[in-house]
Amino acid sequence: MNARQLFPFVSALFAFGGISAAQDAEQKANQTDARISREVTVRADSTKGQGQSNEKGAQPKRIEDSYPLTSDADREKSAKILQQLTVDLLSLFNQHKEAHWNVNGPLYLPLHEFYQEQADFYRTSADTFAERVLHLGYSVDGRYSTVARTSGIPDFPAGYVTDNESIKLLLDRVTVLQKEVYRDIRETEKSDPPTSNKLQDLAYAVDKNLWQLRIHLKKPGGLGEDLPWVTQQGRDRSGK
Ligand SMILES: [Fe+2]
Repeated sequence: MNARQLFPFVSALFAFGGISAAQDAEQKANQTDARISREVTVRADSTKGQGQSNEKGAQPKRIEDSYPLTSDADREKSAKILQQLTVDLLSLFNQHKEAHWNVNGPLYLPLHEFYQEQADFYRTSADTFAERVLHLGYSVDGRYSTVARTSGIPDFPAGYVTDNESIKLLLDRVTVLQKEVYRDIRETEKSDPPTSNKLQDLAYAVDKNLWQLRIHLKKPGGLGEDLPWVTQQGRDRSGK
């Protein structure tokens, strides 16, 4: 039998081999789909009854599968921390606006402008951390009613405030946030490094904000003495 006579048999053999390979690939793909579907179903079942939100049910399977962090418990822990941080940042945004509007006294103009810059910083930061909650697969709640009900930052008093009073009020409140941020860095450093790293950026900025608030209480050109009207608050280290 010459080569020309062999050709139909060889072609048939190749064709058979090709069909067989295609069938094999299709079978493997089906098995993979079935496995992914099983995993997603198991994951969805494991979250039943955890809270009242319905966002998990609304997510397409393959999108849910792409969330960062393999552990649902880690994602939930981060989302709770970030929800609290979001309302506290929004509270500080609002409190700096209050101070921006109601501040009185010799430092009115620099403080009026400084408080606006600070308000912008806290609003932008709230957006950054609120959106991280979404990356993790949860919705976020930044409603005013939720901020008022759940924020851990004490409220700002209503009405006019003097320049040095406003600084001290904000120093106290931003310090509450600073402690929260450092605590959150430790809580997430193993389970959610991207969130923890972003929190470190926030800590750096908050430390700077606190220093800038404190420095406003010093005498211009002085060697660290407090401004004269700080004496009224018992903060004058000279004892006058
Ligand atoms: Fe303004």
